[in-house]
Amino acid sequence: MSAAKIAVAITGASGALYAVKTLAELMARGVHVELVVSDFGRRLLRDELGDEATLEKLVPYLSSKYGDKVNAGALTVHSNRDLGATIASGSHNCSAMAIVPCSMKTLAGIAHGLSRNLVERAADVMLKEHRRLVIVPRETPMSLPSLKNMVLCAEAGAMVLPAMPAFYQQPKTLDDLADFMAGKILSALGFEHDLYPAWTGEVGS
Ligand SMILES: Cc1cc2nc3c(=O)[nH]c(=O)nc-3n(C[C@H](O)[C@H](O)[C@H](O)COP(=O)(O)O)c2cc1C
Repeated sequence: MSAAKIAVAITGASGALYAVKTLAELMARGVHVELVVSDFGRRLLRDELGDEATLEKLVPYLSSKYGDKVNAGALTVHSNRDLGATIASGSHNCSAMAIVPCSMKTLAGIAHGLSRNLVERAADVMLKEHRRLVIVPRETPMSLPSLKNMVLCAEAGAMVLPAMPAFYQQPKTLDDLADFMAGKILSALGFEHDLYPAWTGEVGS
């Protein structure tokens, strides 16, 4: 049986740490990740995580930060301009997609079915094939058009999972916050994990 294939997109909204933690957790589970990064997503990786985390160096970056377990999976990088890539077609056996983080621009493109680039097209494929699409928007405050675009995506079948880490697990580091968001994304994609404690009814118990 071939490895599960999941598409991940990184766009130009703040929160690159959420993206790399999600990638590492998927790969540690043996997933074949099909990654597409927008131009501003590339800039985000470098601006927020440094020169070691540019797209070209992403696999070594993941291994050095999260350990060799990431080598259990595979990473294929697609150009955002390649509308002929595998994930642009519903006939390709990619079972789900997460867009983390998702900019308001890409959110708008998905909400209106524009398919202007591979991120938007692959998301549209998930919606038309009734497969799981997890959108992780980040912006604050939110404009009315962005709020309406989230509703449109939810109505079309996407899960809108805002980048809103919780604090009941008493995070000490930025990585703790990223663990929480990556855990939420993994759950939405159908994976078990122990990235944050389940709520027991009391903080810190
Ligand atoms: C450093 C930086 C941070 C940004 N943060 C956000 C953000 O949190 N949310 C957002 O919607 N756009 C943000 N933007 C703006 C988007 O990157 C911009 O709208 C871009 O055109 C999005 O394109 P993309 O969706 O193709 O990546 C940011 C831009 C920069 C340069």
